[in-house]
Amino acid sequence: MSTTVYIPADASAAAVGAEQVAERIRAEASTRGADVRIVRNGSRGLFWLEPLVEVATGTGRQAYGPVTVADVPGLFDAGFLSGNSHPLSHGLTDSIPYLKKQQRLTFARVGIVDPASVDDYVAHGGYQGLKRALGMDGASIVKEVTDSGLRGRGGAAFPTGIKWKTVLDQPPQQKYVTCNADEGDSGTFSDRMLMEGDPLSLVEGMTIAGIAVGATRGFIYLRVEYPHAYRALGKAIAAARAAGYLGRDVLGSGKEFELSVRLGAGAYICGEETSMLESLEGRRGEVRVRPPLPAIKGLFGQPTIVNNVISLATVPVILARGSTFYKDFGVGRSRGTLPLQLAGNLKHCGLVELAFGPPLREILYDFGGGSLSGRPLRAVQVGGPLGAYLPASQFDTAVDYEALSGIGALLGHGGIVAFDDTVDMLQMARYAMEFCAVESCGKCTPCRIGSTRGVEVIDRIRQGIDREKNISVLSDLCDTMQYGSLCGLGGMAPFPVKSALKHFASDFTGRPA
Ligand SMILES: Cc1cc2nc3c(=O)[nH]c(=O)nc-3n(C[C@H](O)[C@H](O)[C@H](O)COP(=O)(O)O)c2cc1C
Ligand code: SF4
Repeated sequence: MSTTVYIPADASAAAVGAEQVAERIRAEASTRGADVRIVRNGSRGLFWLEPLVEVATGTGRQAYGPVTVADVPGLFDAGFLSGNSHPLSHGLTDSIPYLKKQQRLTFARVGIVDPASVDDYVAHGGYQGLKRALGMDGASIVKEVTDSGLRGRGGAAFPTGIKWKTVLDQPPQQKYVTCNADEGDSGTFSDRMLMEGDPLSLVEGMTIAGIAVGATRGFIYLRVEYPHAYRALGKAIAAARAAGYLGRDVLGSGKEFELSVRLGAGAYICGEETSMLESLEGRRGEVRVRPPLPAIKGLFGQPTIVNNVISLATVPVILARGSTFYKDFGVGRSRGTLPLQLAGNLKHCGLVELAFGPPLREILYDFGGGSLSGRPLRAVQVGGPLGAYLPASQFDTAVDYEALSGIGALLGHGGIVAFDDTVDMLQMARYAMEFCAVESCGKCTPCRIGSTRGVEVIDRIRQGIDREKNISVLSDLCDTMQYGSLCGLGGMAPFPVKSALKHFASDFTGRPA
């Protein structure tokens, strides 16, 4: 009987040699006459252990990592195919505390299934949501999503069900479901991991969305820098179509839904939903003035759902297990779970899916393990490059939408980037303005001109030129950008700058805190 060995094909594992490890294991097994079946799964999200090799045993999957090519003969010698102990072993994967303490709903299958196999997907609970949805009318599906409390995971946290209802309420005509897979936020990777590790959950979520609102066509707008996800999605869509889950007659229901992937244009602003629609239509990614909302006049002028990967990939579990099940996770108006992404100066960077509400400190220390450098953590940026910097005094803030907005921060797409006490916050503020200047679409003046002036003002502060006066100019400039910009890029770029000024003033004034 063959032994199944799981080696992630995920980009994060490939970046540290997973391809070579897979080849070596294949070759070593053949030399030793061992009957091995290799499955290229997604990452479990424990990046410091990648490449994390797992072996299926009678008691569960045994984990070994980080495995290098040179470790492979020793693993065979130690009998890893029988789950035997080795210096790189971590016991049963599911018992590793980092994983065991999580509440994985959206990521339940990531790292577990073969991403290209519909059979494996179905064997692990996949397509139950779609099957249930096919027996419901559109309004009931939309109500289920609304009742679950799901809010958009792309950044704005808008209730998904309300957005869908607006599209549903438009008269019958060509409607679209679009998935925003541009994932431009620095330090974020949950969309990528999901698409590489369990792409069928996104395919299923989009199909349910289409059936719900009467849309027959879907497009995934995928970040061009994600070639692994592109391949994984291509295989998953082809497999779903071959098995009758996509096409003119989804599972014999008489309902149609087709799906294709479009590669993005490589600009941060193309992740803003109206720019994304412009780009999907083949034009330069530039923000559209709202109204009309995309839900009323979106892609090619038709009613369109625009949702993030994680929002859509969460829909199957909501339909399969019911809105009440999902809503039972979380706190206040932040219902369900959020896949957090730990990056920066932390010992244990990776993917942590938890119900909303734990204190940030728990994420940073219990999961992240504190700083990699061993120095005290000084600042944490939550919510991508436009998110606020939180000082250590705010590490007890709960990780949910309301608690973070209550301290002038945002949760965004769930990215958490940590910095130790060697960080120069004036430099980080400059980076925010520079990022905005580079990525601005140029449509409105506060962002286009303001960001460039912002870099110049910060440079004068750095050079010690009229520091107090320039700090005041910087503060005014932030207000102008925040309140005068057309979209969130110019509107939120001041958040990291203002928070750095507020909490780390000594880095600006040159005077001790
Ligand atoms: C500058 C900017 C960049 C954005 N980038 C992304 C992105 O990469 N991915 C994403 O899903 N949403 C992004 N958004 C948010 C989208 O405009 C939109 O709110 C989201 O795709 C809606 O999906 P959701 O409701 O499921 O979150 C961005 C917004 C702004 C202002
Ligand atoms: S804020 Fe910046 S990115 Fe947004 S529309 Fe204005 S110029 Fe374009």
